[in-house]
Amino acid sequence: GAKKREVWSGRSVFIMAAIGSAVGLGNIWRFPYIAYENGGGAFLIPYLVALLTAGLPLLFVDYAIGHKFRGSPPLAFRRLARRAEFLGWWQVLVCFVIGVYYAVIIAWAARYTFFSLSEAWGDDAEGFFLESFLQVDGDSSFGMSFVPGVAWPLLAVWILTLGVLALGVQRGIGNANRFFVPLLVILFGALVVRALTLEGATVGLDAFFTPNWSALTDTSVWIAAYAQIFFSLSVAFGIMITYSSYLKRKTNLTGSGLVVGFSNSSFEVLAGIGVFSALGFMAQAQGVAVDEVVAGGIGLAFIAFPTIVSEMPGGPIFGVLFFGSLVFAGFTSLISIIQVAVSAFEDKTGLGRVPAVLTIGGVSAIVSLLLFPTTTGLNTLDVVDRFANQFGIVGVAFVALIVVAWMLRRLPDLRDHLNSVSSFKVGKGWLLFTGGVTPIVLGYMLFSEIRDRLAEGYGGLPDDLVVVFGWGVQAAVIVAAVALSFVPWRKSIDLSYDLSD
Ligand code: PHE
Ligand code: NA
Repeated sequence: GAKKREVWSGRSVFIMAAIGSAVGLGNIWRFPYIAYENGGGAFLIPYLVALLTAGLPLLFVDYAIGHKFRGSPPLAFRRLARRAEFLGWWQVLVCFVIGVYYAVIIAWAARYTFFSLSEAWGDDAEGFFLESFLQVDGDSSFGMSFVPGVAWPLLAVWILTLGVLALGVQRGIGNANRFFVPLLVILFGALVVRALTLEGATVGLDAFFTPNWSALTDTSVWIAAYAQIFFSLSVAFGIMITYSSYLKRKTNLTGSGLVVGFSNSSFEVLAGIGVFSALGFMAQAQGVAVDEVVAGGIGLAFIAFPTIVSEMPGGPIFGVLFFGSLVFAGFTSLISIIQVAVSAFEDKTGLGRVPAVLTIGGVSAIVSLLLFPTTTGLNTLDVVDRFANQFGIVGVAFVALIVVAWMLRRLPDLRDHLNSVSSFKVGKGWLLFTGGVTPIVLGYMLFSEIRDRLAEGYGGLPDDLVVVFGWGVQAAVIVAAVALSFVPWRKSIDLSYDLSD
């Protein structure tokens, strides 16, 4: 191609950016809850198995594809095989869908960082969140009544994100991560230290770590472990292909992957310790069992934590540490996810970085601003999130592995590429995990989710939203991905580039 691809200045900035992407809301609000619900201390076993047999091996697949074929997901897959291009677009669109709502949660957390200072929720964190802050409309499922208190922080999140992306891979994304990742570690580290010194912390930690060994015989626990690893490591939906496409020719890929994978998991376990210490304090303060205060996701962050902040001495500082951590963890993840679409658009059209950021980033921002800061935005967000995780991420990972490993039989090529540049060599075990174990686990995850949803429905979520923003969006994403793979590439691009040639 006529255009030279941007590069990271070195391996460490790539590792920092990859950690920044991996460490996100999932680490802080998802892992502690999932671990607790699925065997407590015993969950660490399936979790570690999933990391070693699926997370790291798939991370290496992403790195191999991105580095060998030097492109955004559509370009990299296209260079791998003509028929594979749609997989790249599917990943791009899954990222787009996730990006538009992920930004919203960062915006909420940003406002809560300030709310913490005055404990703005008073003594009713739930009422404050749903009624005063989000102004949730319980009567209609979809409406356009705007909520300015969410819209303007969301606009700010988008402006900052697009600003970083416009500065480019090294100057924008690299520097942002070099600043925000260490800052996150400091803030969150301080939070964990404070949480551990709270009265009742040990009660929380006991609840978290006490192993329920019988969980190990339950398939759903193993599935939960694999699901957590896929989401948490951001593997197989385009992010890591994109980031590794900016690496220099000679880069130790697997060595980097091990650092990223173990850093992400360490952060998760740390989050489990911090979150459960705080929940232990809350349970003690309210004179109830930990079991009764456990929450995950939005409920943990925006209802339980505000309550904890109100109940503890020095609460405002603790709140700032917690919500600030959510903001920084989320921001570096959002940057990575929007960059996937931006780089795909650049590759396909030949447009420069800034116009690509303004168009693709602009469209993402507008969709996000139209759909979510509304009185029905919370339900919409729930539906989109649920489907993106259960079908989008899992579906694209499953199909991509089937195509690459089984139909195109390209795993040995990718293995050779990894081994030609990396210190840690992969062999038969890696082929077995990526070509055998992982596709089977992913296939089972898809199958059991579809079966359960058909049988049980989406309890509580309005049907029309489920149809439009759930099934509708996921189906549209697949159709659009195939369509995009037939749009011609810019003339100047070399569609047969392969770094190993
Ligand atoms: N790995 C992220 C997390 O744990 C998931 C993610 C990454 C989501 C990038 C969106 C964007 O939260
Ligand atoms: Na993560």
